[in-house]
Amino acid sequence: MSKNLVVVGQGYVGLPMALRAAEVGLKVHGLDTNIATVAALNSGTSHIDDVSDAYLAAGIANGYEATTDPSCIANADVVVVCVPTPLAAEGGPDLGPVEGAARVIGEHLSPDTLVILESTTYPGTTEEVFAPLVTRSRFDVGSDVFIAFSPERIDPGNATYGVRNTPKVVGGMTPECTHRAKDFYSLFIDTVVEARGAKEAEMAKLLENTFRHVNIALVNEMLRFSQELDIDLWDAIDCAETKPFGFMAFRPGPGVGGHCIPVDPSYLSHRVKAKLGYAFRMVELAEEINHAAPDYVASRAWSLLNDQGKAVNGSRVLLLGVTYKPDIADCRESPADPLAARLASWGADVSYHDPFVPRWSPRGVSNVLTCAADLNNAVDAADLVVLLQPHSDYDFEAVVRRDTHILDTRGALAAEKNVHRL
Ligand SMILES: NC(=O)c1ccc[n+]([C@@H]2O[C@H](COP(=O)([O-])OP(=O)(O)OC[C@H]3O[C@@H](n4cnc5c(N)ncnc54)[C@H](O)[C@@H]3O)[C@@H](O)[C@H]2O)c1
Repeated sequence: MSKNLVVVGQGYVGLPMALRAAEVGLKVHGLDTNIATVAALNSGTSHIDDVSDAYLAAGIANGYEATTDPSCIANADVVVVCVPTPLAAEGGPDLGPVEGAARVIGEHLSPDTLVILESTTYPGTTEEVFAPLVTRSRFDVGSDVFIAFSPERIDPGNATYGVRNTPKVVGGMTPECTHRAKDFYSLFIDTVVEARGAKEAEMAKLLENTFRHVNIALVNEMLRFSQELDIDLWDAIDCAETKPFGFMAFRPGPGVGGHCIPVDPSYLSHRVKAKLGYAFRMVELAEEINHAAPDYVASRAWSLLNDQGKAVNGSRVLLLGVTYKPDIADCRESPADPLAARLASWGADVSYHDPFVPRWSPRGVSNVLTCAADLNNAVDAADLVVLLQPHSDYDFEAVVRRDTHILDTRGALAAEKNVHRL
């Protein structure tokens, strides 16, 4: 296969995509502005949890090369953009990296190239912001060059669904753009779904993440009054889940983390507010509820210590798992952060254990914390353990046997007298 591919941004999204494309024979350049990342990748060291050094080595053997030099764009048949879209101060995405990448592409673009934006953003970005910088009025979209949006759905740490078998949605600025994007992804992804256009593909991504955000907020809100009404919501969810249609189970937790679920829905509400002047109320409510979840966990920790005749002030609280989801090292927007800050502000002696995080500096906690060296000793030394992420490496039976009281925010532990579900 002779296709030349440039993947701009070699992070959680761009690197797995680039290597999967190299696996099927595409000649792939991974373009990134971070010199250290590029050097590490070319020396065979992966910085992404789901990409092993062995898989990277296989990619390099297949012709994958990381680079900081954008001149590779001139020879590309396809350019895919996977740069970050962090939350900007006013609530929408910071499009600086997307605009920067688009400008560089525009400077080097050759006719007949397909350019695809994958970064998560609000509907309209591809057509209104991205495309004009790429074409610079030199090319007509749909005849000279082809531009599409394809949302990234990667789920870090998911051993079942990866780049190849997660269906890919594509929406082009013209039907020809959509067809070309579909043909491209079909080279290395099993199922490619055509959206009506770029805006619909952009909206599909925000719908998916807003759906999760709102449903997590629903059970987090129900948890509070179920507790007070002496109803076991976890059991109610298990029962509801037996309905074979019309129900999808979401479970309560310490809050939403990562840089997608807590962030992406704001892109949509910000857009609605900016363009139409009214609020996307579901998102605002879900944000309020999920944002308050770590404080709710702190109040439950307070109450469990109180039951033991202990004040939070001076108590040793061990947090288990401080990443935003199990089995990965990513701590971005992790609810462990505000929880640690709240407990520390009440005078608790906060420590943590996480096999993926050797050192951790949560906001509001003055010193950098180091992962407890021995889990059993740390559990023994604690007045209360708060389980936040059930990493598969944990031997929970052994943890529960230590007899320390545990607040289980994930419903991961078997019922024992020292286990208290959130
Ligand atoms: N990580 C996920 O699970 C996930 C899932 C779905 C969607 N997304 C979306 O995908 C996009 C990328 O996210 P990510 O997690 O891969 O980010 P990341 O921070 O892991 O990686 C981004 C990479 O892009 C590089 N970069 C930044 N600006 C650049 C530029 N102008 N030119 C070239 N390289 C540049 C950075 O150096 C970094 O290596 C975001 O919009 C994100 O919201 C991420």
